[in-house]
Amino acid sequence: MFRVDIMTLFDLTVGDVLSESILGRAQERDILRIEAHQIRDYTLNRQKQVDDYPYGGGHGAVMQADPLYQCWKHITDAYGGGRTIYLSPAGKTFCQARARELARECDHLILVCGHYEGIDERFIEECVDEEISLGDFVLTGGEIAAMAVTDAVCRLVPGVLSDPECFEEESHWNGLLEYPQYSRPEEWHGRRVPAILRSGDHKNIARWRRKQAIVRTRDRRPDMYARLDLSSKADQKLLREIAEEEAAAAEASPNDMP
Ligand SMILES: C[S@@+](CC[C@H](N)C(=O)[O-])C[C@H]1O[C@@H](n2cnc3c(N)ncnc32)[C@H](O)[C@@H]1O
Repeated sequence: MFRVDIMTLFDLTVGDVLSESILGRAQERDILRIEAHQIRDYTLNRQKQVDDYPYGGGHGAVMQADPLYQCWKHITDAYGGGRTIYLSPAGKTFCQARARELARECDHLILVCGHYEGIDERFIEECVDEEISLGDFVLTGGEIAAMAVTDAVCRLVPGVLSDPECFEEESHWNGLLEYPQYSRPEEWHGRRVPAILRSGDHKNIARWRRKQAIVRTRDRRPDMYARLDLSSKADQKLLREIAEEEAAAAEASPNDMP
């Protein structure tokens, strides 16, 4: 069973969100266990205070090392050591490749959510294996980042999704963004589902989807596009078709072009 323990000041909210839908059902089937731990329960003072002023001055408060340590120790004593990750804007930016590694290489994650101005560096030195950031912005607390990491990793744990194909065609799996998706009805607000998707010709549908994924990635994420290997014969043919189709579209309506 893959286990995630989340150390937080908002255990009820985090626990509620992560027990819904796919992750909730995987927990019912004992493939996953996700538990949120209230850091305040590990304080030794009556006020359950977990923060104090920062040494050196400055505004705000810093989460103290000891309540964090006691909470972490409770988890590791009860469930064994896990990979301990502090969610932090100063960490390495999270991505699908890291989610895949964590799902493959670990079976127990301990996620530490900071709040206020962050957490005492000595806890990080003593207990944390890695710092992960959700992106180049600052959140109020680590909970949203911890939930994002938990969700992204847990859906890759074998058995959580019904079929690996569910994620193997998704954005970021193979360096491409996913092709556009459609569902019923066939026509909505005058917009029709592309005819190819209604043809039942699975080989051609797969070609169309790859072509769409290539164009999307080129237009939206030139950084990802630059890293793609499109040297296969099949992809070279698709690239020629894309160029021809775009040239024809430009000729048909020259004023629409940038
Ligand atoms: C207000 S932030 C503290 C920011 C810190 N003073 C700094 O400048 O790096 C409070 C907590 O939110 C979480 N957090 C904020 N931004 C984050 C991000 N981009 N990724 C992951 N966690 C983040 C961290 O757990 C952090 O301890």
